[in-house]
Amino acid sequence: MSIHGKAKRITTQVLQEMKNNGEKIAMLTAYDYSMARIVDAAGVDIILVGDSASNVMAGHETTLPITLDHMIYHAQGVVRAAKKALVVVDLPFGTYQGNSKQALNSSIRIMKESGAHAVKLEGGAEVRESIERILTAGIPVMGHLGLTPQSIYKFGTYTVRAKEAAEAEALRSDAAMLEEIGCFSLVLEKVPAGLATEVSKSIGIPTVGIGAGGGCDGQVLVLHDMLGLTLDFSPQFLRRYLDMGEQMNSAISQYVADVRSRDFPNESEQY
Ligand code: KIV
Repeated sequence: MSIHGKAKRITTQVLQEMKNNGEKIAMLTAYDYSMARIVDAAGVDIILVGDSASNVMAGHETTLPITLDHMIYHAQGVVRAAKKALVVVDLPFGTYQGNSKQALNSSIRIMKESGAHAVKLEGGAEVRESIERILTAGIPVMGHLGLTPQSIYKFGTYTVRAKEAAEAEALRSDAAMLEEIGCFSLVLEKVPAGLATEVSKSIGIPTVGIGAGGGCDGQVLVLHDMLGLTLDFSPQFLRRYLDMGEQMNSAISQYVADVRSRDFPNESEQY
């Protein structure tokens, strides 16, 4: 039986065992109870309450506006639903950068008020102190390197990162540092597949890629993207598993037509 199959609950130790045994890790985002229940029951290892909620749930252009209170609200529903998956919550923009005490307080709020199992934050050397402080409280931390959407106004675009030698070298060194200080895993977003493979082989902790090729130890997608709910977003790395937006549109159009034609409700659908 697979390590996922044997585990009652996915923990950071189980994820490490999966990497050690070459078993790939499946991670998806979720932001609410109903969706998280389906994601968990389908066998996903890690549910990420991503700050992509800012885009897909609230309709913002970037991840910057979402607040700690919003993230905790989303996480509470997901935690109630997750019976097996490890629940990781993004620290939102402005709640951890440059102030390690604030980073610790934000993480404690997430853990206490939502019941989540770990936090994720973006960046390398520049957030080292914050990560170390969070880890002192026994809170597991997932790193996030490559394209870090909270820095979109620094990058200017959402294109592939670390194509140039200097940025690739910085990423290698940040990945090694994140492992050394005690992160349990790290996300590699939109970096060349060759670099992601090299980093995944060179560090001991599991990497989870998005747009980073098949050499990572696991993969993550935004749930709404892979279900076909965000039709205006079609990057090369995205595989759509469902046309849920179109299916919902036709179901809802049918409902509207049935109400207007007095077909709904019928005799058996009333008291
Ligand atoms: O917020 C998010 O959904 C993420 C994933 C893209 C990794 O950070």
